[in-house]
Amino acid sequence: MTSTATRPRGARARAAIAAKTLRTDRWWFAPLITVIGLSAWVAYATVRVFMHKWYWVDQYHYLTPFYSPCVTDRCVEGAAHFGRFLPGWWIIPDAALTLPFLLLFRLTCYYYRKAYYRSFWLSPPACAVPDKHDSYSGETRFPLLGQNLHRYFFYAAAIISLINTWDAVLAFHSPEGFGFGLGNIVLLVNVVMLWAYTISCHSCRHIIGGRLKHFSKHPVRYKAWTGVSWLNVRHMQLAWITLGTLALTDFYVMAVAAGWFNDLRFIN
Ligand code: FES
Repeated sequence: MTSTATRPRGARARAAIAAKTLRTDRWWFAPLITVIGLSAWVAYATVRVFMHKWYWVDQYHYLTPFYSPCVTDRCVEGAAHFGRFLPGWWIIPDAALTLPFLLLFRLTCYYYRKAYYRSFWLSPPACAVPDKHDSYSGETRFPLLGQNLHRYFFYAAAIISLINTWDAVLAFHSPEGFGFGLGNIVLLVNVVMLWAYTISCHSCRHIIGGRLKHFSKHPVRYKAWTGVSWLNVRHMQLAWITLGTLALTDFYVMAVAAGWFNDLRFIN
């Protein structure tokens, strides 16, 4: 039985039931698929970030989001839109300026918190399934206290989405001038999805419509808040979709850069 000292205030002791849980459905499926999905994505991203090659298609100016902006002295000139001011040690990602913020943005995201608390920490793995830990302190202590910094990482993520948008615009390029290919569609879809995920953030919703006493006196903010709220209820789906579009975009750029296949061109 959980001791009173470690139990959340107001919580009651669990009823004396011998069974681990009375749930008979596949409650373990969601945590399991989350572990598999997140682990696979992190493994892929880690390999790609430290590969230090096949991130830029010079002919069409395609830059993978995993290397944007490219800021080490190892970056090829065309890909370094913001200068090359960091040393090119292998341990330093070429997008060292943005990747830590993106990682922290996702790590502190309300949805991902729920996902990895349940699936990796089993705390608890599902509703009506006991927590695997004896004590519970919520997010009141270090390091989980840092989850409250999420709203600041949101601002960083918004700036990074602007940079990714700029990359997508610059990619309308061909050796003859303007160009348009399948790679542009891939980059654009990724950017649209990244914006949808970023704007659907709970912190963004609060920034847009929080701390107001009367929506009727702020019709523009109310309208914006309504739009953000529509996206916000789809935040979980967008969290997963953007993991997919990020990996897919990176893979597409890598494949074209490596010469595994050619970009399908519609114009030039
Ligand atoms: S709550 Fe998920 S990104 Fe902010």
